[in-house]
Amino acid sequence: MDTIKTLLTRKSSPRLDEPSPSPEELDLIFQSALRAPDHAALKPWKFIKVSGEGRGKLAKASLEALKKINPSKANENEEKILNAPYRAPLIIIVVASIKDHHIVPDIEQILSAGAAAQNILIAAHSMGYSGIWRTGLISFNKEISRSFDLDDNDVVIGYLYIGTSEKEMTLPPKSNINDFVINWD
Ligand SMILES: Cc1cc2nc3c(=O)[nH]c(=O)nc-3n(C[C@H](O)[C@H](O)[C@H](O)COP(=O)(O)O)c2cc1C
Repeated sequence: MDTIKTLLTRKSSPRLDEPSPSPEELDLIFQSALRAPDHAALKPWKFIKVSGEGRGKLAKASLEALKKINPSKANENEEKILNAPYRAPLIIIVVASIKDHHIVPDIEQILSAGAAAQNILIAAHSMGYSGIWRTGLISFNKEISRSFDLDDNDVVIGYLYIGTSEKEMTLPPKSNINDFVINWD
């Protein structure tokens, strides 16, 4: 797909099913993520690919983490949390793996991980798949990082649910760029 068309037609989809990217397509998707802007070439990224039975593992890990963070919320939302990973055949958990650096602050590394996440969504869309970036109750938390055996300096910045949209998504009306752009001509 033409790049501008890909960017202009990306639309999140909450319900996703098979087919999902093949191993060859996934390789290209991850290579696209690894081309995110990256100050000082720190490569501050990790990706956890969850599919098949891994979704059950993710469901349990999410519930255990939330029980430690907020037990009453975990009890209230147990079913929702256990079902959440089954909303798509593939989930890519994007992690900002923050390095201690004398010039590049944490925020730049988190933004770089965000750019990697967007590259994943765009690459998947260019191949005909859909996705949605979710954070939910347990991102940005050390407890969930520990459940994934991540390091203390790793921050989960999003769950990218990827697959084929169960329904045709309609694009929102085109925005007026003048509402957002300040011109200094
Ligand atoms: C960092 C981030 C976190 C998000 N977390 C959630 C979330 O937890 N749940 C949700 O429904 N949408 C979440 N969204 C919004 C969706 O990904 C999506 O952008 C939104 O539904 C609008 O659809 P669109 O991307 O097609 O414009 C998040 C977006 C970003 C950038």
